[in-house]
Amino acid sequence: MTSRVALVTGGTGGIGTAIVRKLAAMGHKVATNYRDKAKATAWQEALKRDGVDVALAAGDVSDPAGAEAMVKEVVDQLGPVDILVNNAGITRDTTFHKMTAMQWQEVINTNLNSCFNVTRPVIDGMRDRKWGRIIQISSINGQKGQYGQANYAASKAGMHGFTISLAQENAKFGITVNTISPGYVATEMVMAVPEEVRAKIAAQIPVGRLGKPEEIAYAVGFFIPDDAAWITGANMSINGGHYMGW
Ligand code: CAA
Repeated sequence: MTSRVALVTGGTGGIGTAIVRKLAAMGHKVATNYRDKAKATAWQEALKRDGVDVALAAGDVSDPAGAEAMVKEVVDQLGPVDILVNNAGITRDTTFHKMTAMQWQEVINTNLNSCFNVTRPVIDGMRDRKWGRIIQISSINGQKGQYGQANYAASKAGMHGFTISLAQENAKFGITVNTISPGYVATEMVMAVPEEVRAKIAAQIPVGRLGKPEEIAYAVGFFIPDDAAWITGANMSINGGHYMGW
């Protein structure tokens, strides 16, 4: 398979790390952004010990100028970006009647506005080269809503609106744009949910367990090859059967 340049935002997180490993194992050159240099460097060294090379670029994806500079740093190190995985995301869970403007804005800026901030600097190159893969990592809670997550669910539903518009605009340029909507995966983000609440949620999963980050990364890999060229505008649910809406 052709080796491409892949940028995974939030690559140092739970699902992000699995996506980085998957794309590297497929033979692609992979980069991610970071905000905390010491933490990112330690993470990079740990992956290197496993034989996985990842390029790092400084940048907060919630900030348009920071994201643009980050993309430039990636291009300088690895070359133009062919595969973009908009994976960076945060939660600020609280019921809406207690939610502050800051909790709303932080989540919308990091999860949704980041898709504009990072995709905008890479899209022209993909269109010029007539090949691209753009994948949004959304969430089950963007599909079904979640008590305590008006900000997060709005951002995640917005990501798929972004996907289906970009998919239409860029189809004739060899660019596919898809969404993956993971359910509850055993990462720090999900483990931060209070244990009794988490247990009730886990009990609603027909497969009977939380997901593994590798099970999300597997789907990212699925969308990349040339054989996947006709799959665009899709929203792939991967949630152990927790939500089967269509
Ligand atoms: N449906 C109905 N009622 C619910 C409810 C639900 N799903 N969840 C909580 N409640 C009720 C409680 O029973 C309680 O009722 P009483 O007051 O009658 O006893 C009440 O709501 C508590 O409300 P509060 O406003 O006091 O809530 P709180 O401040 O105690 O905390 C919360 C609420 C922050 C939302 C907490 O319940 C929570 O963390 N929930 C989990 C949210 C969640 O799933 N986050 C996912 C994070 S992981 C992720 O986002 C990754 C991904 O993509 C899947």
